[in-house]
Order: sequence, then C-alpha cells, then structure tokens
Amino acid sequence: MNLGSRSQVKSYVRQGLVTVNGALAKSPDRQVDELSDKIAFRGEPLCYKKFVYYMMNKPVGVVSATSDRAEHTVVSLLGKDAKEGIFPVGRLDKDTTGLLLLTDDGGLAHRLLAPRKHVDKTYRVTIAHILAEGDVRRLEEGLDIGEEKPTLPARVTLLEDTEILLTIQEGKFHQVKRMLQAVGNQVLALKRVSFGGLDLDETLRPGEYRELTEEELERLSGDAGVEMTTATEDRESRRRNGGTAPDSGQATEHAERKACRTGGNGR
Ligand code: URA
Repeated sequence: MNLGSRSQVKSYVRQGLVTVNGALAKSPDRQVDELSDKIAFRGEPLCYKKFVYYMMNKPVGVVSATSDRAEHTVVSLLGKDAKEGIFPVGRLDKDTTGLLLLTDDGGLAHRLLAPRKHVDKTYRVTIAHILAEGDVRRLEEGLDIGEEKPTLPARVTLLEDTEILLTIQEGKFHQVKRMLQAVGNQVLALKRVSFGGLDLDETLRPGEYRELTEEELERLSGDAGVEMTTATEDRESRRRNGGTAPDSGQATEHAERKACRTGGNGR
C-alpha cells in the first residue's frame, strides 16, 4: 500500500478516491486495520506491504550506503522509491557490481547478515592470473587473510582461464579481494551474482532495480531462518493469541504479503 505521502493520501480521501470496505472513506483521519479492512483507490484494491524489498544490479562507482557527502549511494539510485528507513543489506565495494538487496526490514537484514547464518554469497570474479590447483584447494579449504581465524570453506568454479565463480559464507571487509591476494592473485572485476537463494536478475541493467517476487522473498527468508506462515495459518494463530501476532512479526509480514498476492483476504 503505497499511495504517496500522508498529505497526498489525505487529498485522495477528500477527493473521494478511496473506499474502505466498499464505502467511500469520508475522513482522512479514520483509522483502518490494514489486515482486515479492504481498501481501494480509484476502485483498485490496495495491497498492504509493511516492508519493501528491492533487488538492485549495483553499478560501479556508487557506494553501498544510505547517504554520503561526496558520493552517489545505492539508496539515491532508488529515486522516489527511496522511502525512509531503506538501506542496503551488507556492503559491496564501490567498484563491485551486481546483486544488492535493499529493504527497510531490519529484522530480515539482521538475520541474513548474522555471521552464524553462513548465508552463501557467490561472486563472478575476473582475476589477473590463472589459478593453480593448489590455489583452488587453499581458497576452498579456508586461508589466512590476516584475520583472527582463517576464512570458512569456500567453493570455486572455474569458468574460463581468468574467470571464476567464488562462493563464500562470510562477508568480511574486501574478503574476495583479500582471498585472491592471499594466493598471489588479483581481482580485476567483481560481480555478485547470488545472495542466499536469490540470483541476480540479469535483465536488470547496472543501476536498475525491481521488487522481489514473493517466491524470492520466501527463499531469502528461508536462508535467514524465518518460518513461513500462510495467511490462513497466521489468522488462526492470531485468533488463538487473542488478536496479536505470535512472534515479532516476520512470519506475519510474509503472510500479509502472501495474502495480497493470492487475494487470500480479499485484497
Ligand atoms: N569481497 C570484496 O572484496 N569486495 C566486495 O565488494 C564484496 C566481497
């Protein structure tokens, strides 16, 4: 449900463009229950979304931050969709391209980034020199990059002489560059192609973004260890709990979104 700013919404209500449960909304101050009330704008049912989730193909030259004095940020690329509270989930270096998730769902982001979750991140890496067998073994077994502990086991897929896929489970500062450096190599170009169960939509040109599909969000939530709940299960669970959601709301949020997509609660 994103009709615009608070004042825009008020103006739509005053113009008679909004209905609640089929009746014209008369006052902009009327309280609605986003879950049970059926709200429509110009006759079109609105879908309630508590959080937004965007997949971006990050371009080179933009920093993974919400704001920066000197540089363009990934959030500024969202333009009018840069709603308050939105931030990139993790960081890609300024010269790294590819899959970046942006959301205002702090709970999901926290879970995806928690070191104990070991969420896979796969990078397509252009390197300066052909990898020797021993280098591949060291990268895969885990190696010293100057941290307290060696890196966790990784996976290497050789694509071309100087082109590899590298899947890592952590997200240490400059990790891929430091891993390649540790085997005497050098990263010439770096692109993230997947994050957990999410693959970069290659139809997105650098700088473009789109909302995640429900399926993508479910896969990602699975990676973060969030149990999914159907809208019916959620309503039943709320009823048993005296109208309140059973946990902090993550599963409930997905149930609401799912209900939107399937029209499960009529919206
Ligand atoms: N590893 C790096 O070295 N840089 C990135 O941007 C991501 C992973």
